[in-house]
Amino acid sequence: VIDVSKRLLDLPTITDPRGHLTFVEGLRHVPFDIKRVYYLHHVPAGAERGGHAHHALHQVLIAVSGGFTVVLDDGHGQVRHRLDDARKGLLIKTMEWRELVDFTPGGVCLVLASRPYEESDYIRDYDTFLRAVGAKA
Ligand code: TYD
Repeated sequence: VIDVSKRLLDLPTITDPRGHLTFVEGLRHVPFDIKRVYYLHHVPAGAERGGHAHHALHQVLIAVSGGFTVVLDDGHGQVRHRLDDARKGLLIKTMEWRELVDFTPGGVCLVLASRPYEESDYIRDYDTFLRAVGAKA
């Protein structure tokens, strides 16, 4: 079972009366070179994102506005974590099933990714994922 406390990254943040500025450098503040950035926004109430794992991709999720809940599953158990602090990143490694649920209105999930988009890197079938991690006979 994934220990979320070991996956939370404190992103450097400069605060002054004008607000917060948070920044991320690849290989410095996240443990990979950043090859791609995308963001989930205007997510309707009740919508569920994710629902897959990856063979090779590492990602860091950041709630840059609002919040959402991440369900992380390594095949041996799942943990839920609410992300709602733009100064925190959540690291997701290879072969970890993720679902993103319960977005607040206006919630935005920024994703930093270690690889370009490759559909062949996805595992989109949960039973296939369980077999791949050896969690199912
Ligand atoms: P998907 O990764 O399934 O979305 P999420 O896990 O966030 O719910 O991607 C949804 C669609 O967008 C799918 O058709 C693939 C496409 N897509 C790209 O073309 N490039 C990308 O970088 C990403 C993340 C998705």
